[in-house]
Amino acid sequence: MTQPSGAGPLTEAQVEAVVERWRQGRLVALPTETVYGLAGDAGQERAVAEIFRIKGRPADHPLIVHVGSPADADYWIDAQTDASRLARFRTLVRQFWPGPLTLIMPRRPQAPAFACGGQASVGLRCPSHPVAQRLLAAFAAADGHGIAAPSANRFGRISPTRAAHVRDEFGDADILIVDGGDSEVGLESTIVDLSRDRPSLLRPGSVALQAIEQALGEPVAVSANVADPSVVDADAPRASGTLASHYAPHTEMRIVSADELPARLAAAQADAVRAVVLPCAGDAAAYGRRLYARLRELDGQGADLILVVAPPRQADWQAIWDRLLRASTRDA
Ligand code: TXA
Ligand code: MG
Repeated sequence: MTQPSGAGPLTEAQVEAVVERWRQGRLVALPTETVYGLAGDAGQERAVAEIFRIKGRPADHPLIVHVGSPADADYWIDAQTDASRLARFRTLVRQFWPGPLTLIMPRRPQAPAFACGGQASVGLRCPSHPVAQRLLAAFAAADGHGIAAPSANRFGRISPTRAAHVRDEFGDADILIVDGGDSEVGLESTIVDLSRDRPSLLRPGSVALQAIEQALGEPVAVSANVADPSVVDADAPRASGTLASHYAPHTEMRIVSADELPARLAAAQADAVRAVVLPCAGDAAAYGRRLYARLRELDGQGADLILVVAPPRQADWQAIWDRLLRASTRDA
């Protein structure tokens, strides 16, 4: 693995090196405001295959295509898309791009399908991180159409929010890690599907559902796959399949209320179970920014159990609840 470049603005030579790698079909760990991405040329089958291989991700799971500017998204979008879907796209782009919002649109039939898991749609995102912006703009200037970038972690594991996490995750794989410092947002982008008749939220993120509904002036359906914070009882059975284990530490993890915590700790001690605690403090933005780094730290402590103190059940905690519920251990 190539050495990271160190956080801070990139030199011209570093930008060129990244663009050259992308053109060769090789991979770069790209810092974004949400999480680090495992990034390769979305237009090269070889590069996309390498992403799937290194991540261990099933090839029918579509990747997000990253572009440096809204205009660069046009290459990917079916020009025949009906006017109301295009209008929604333009409204959300105007308000939220560049930023942590991914939009699913009907794919232009001629645009490469490898990154899209063979789907007729494409997920598009324009990240705001200055390093990502610079690199994506340079790639576009070299006639690149977009960069496929899933989170730079092995399939099903916790997303990386700093360069060192990517290094821990992938050991000596052939990846150039670009260090852009700690990710500001810390949770993956909000995903809204605009390819259907009605807009629908596929993944909650820091761009809130309410803000999207307000911008669109219409309700947004919430996909059944979004983890539901009203089902917070960590021991309650949940529909299997809708909550496939994701974003998960190796250590067993349970969500407990602050009231329950002392009894759970006492019970753990009585059973010789080594428990560590993720407390809940600060607002949702600060908590979200540090969540994955803290889970990685706790996961590395060799404990038997991570007890996560339940956050408030409020709208701005929706994305955090979604990730915590997916990461927590469930009874079969
Ligand atoms: O914040 C983020 O979005 C990060 C950074 C690196 O940009 N990327 C990320 O990618 O989280 P990934 O691959 O870990 O998550 C992509 C999600 C998947 O759940 C996938 O199913 C969905 O986006 N997705 C992508 N294209 C899609 C499509 N055409 N239709 C439906 N879902 C799609
Ligand atoms: Mg991911």
